[in-house]
Amino acid sequence: MSRVLVIHGPSLNLLGEREPHIYGKTILEEVNREIEKWCLEKGWDVSIVQCNSEGEIINHIHDSAGLQDLVVINPAAYTHYSLAIADAIRAAGICAIEVHLTNIFAREEFRRISVIAPVCAGQICGFGANSYILALEAGEKILKVKGE
Ligand code: DQA
Repeated sequence: MSRVLVIHGPSLNLLGEREPHIYGKTILEEVNREIEKWCLEKGWDVSIVQCNSEGEIINHIHDSAGLQDLVVINPAAYTHYSLAIADAIRAAGICAIEVHLTNIFAREEFRRISVIAPVCAGQICGFGANSYILALEAGEKILKVKGE
């Protein structure tokens, strides 16, 4: 059984009401239900957290070492500047996949930079809530190759 931690970063608790023309009308609970459904079908153990502060995210990443096989993370705005989160992923030695609801490369200039992507196995963006499912599918393949 694989174990995955899904981390939603700041303001993702407001999905559905936050700039719906950009992020859509789906609320976070619905996104989480889809993630849980996928994990249930695969027999995976899933934990999901939403954090509005950097320290909280870092603590979850540290705690994932040895407890999780995979971290799927949407660092939200921290994507673009949090070297502390990048360092935490590196320090934990955890396999992480970065996800975004929107295509960050098709938005403002500052969003085109991710300081998190270099410490991740890869990044998936632009597919709305499905970005998380695509990340889980990618993670499944990575873990299979690793034999976990
Ligand atoms: C986001 C993209 C970020 O640039 C932004 O700050 C977010 C959400 C996304 O999922 O598209 O909060 O991570």
